[in-house]
Amino acid sequence: MHRISAALLSSLAVVTLANVASAADAGNGEKLARRWCVSCHVVAADQRQGNTQADPFSAMAKLPGLDAGKLALYLLLPHPKMPDMNLSRSEAADLAAYIAKQGR
Ligand code: HEC
Repeated sequence: MHRISAALLSSLAVVTLANVASAADAGNGEKLARRWCVSCHVVAADQRQGNTQADPFSAMAKLPGLDAGKLALYLLLPHPKMPDMNLSRSEAADLAAYIAKQGR
């Protein structure tokens, strides 16, 4: 029972975030990326250097199964190797939309 409700909750969260992501502003995502993410990730084609441990956004966008909704969710969860950036939901969605665009 417990497991089922957890699975349900997380899929609901993904659906909700996917909806947020569809209204997201990739242009604002780019601004945020250039401010918060450049120190480690290569965030745009015109940027040469990043941190070797962190994937460039263009590579991330091509990871199978990683769509804007999942990216936004990932950005809202704390993860050990990245500083906690306290992104709002809409900032996470904008960033995710921007990252997802890099693959095209
Ligand atoms: C202090 C360095 C640092 C900063 C700043 C940083 N990241 Fe990361 N990020 C990393 C590292 C290192 C990883 C690889 C994590 C791992 O291997 O567990 C990572 C992984 C990720 C991933 C998971 C996908 C993947 O390729 O592993 C996403 C998505 C991501 N970062 C997005 C962002 C965004 C968006 C920002 C800016 C808001 C950001 N990061 C800022 C270091 C950073």
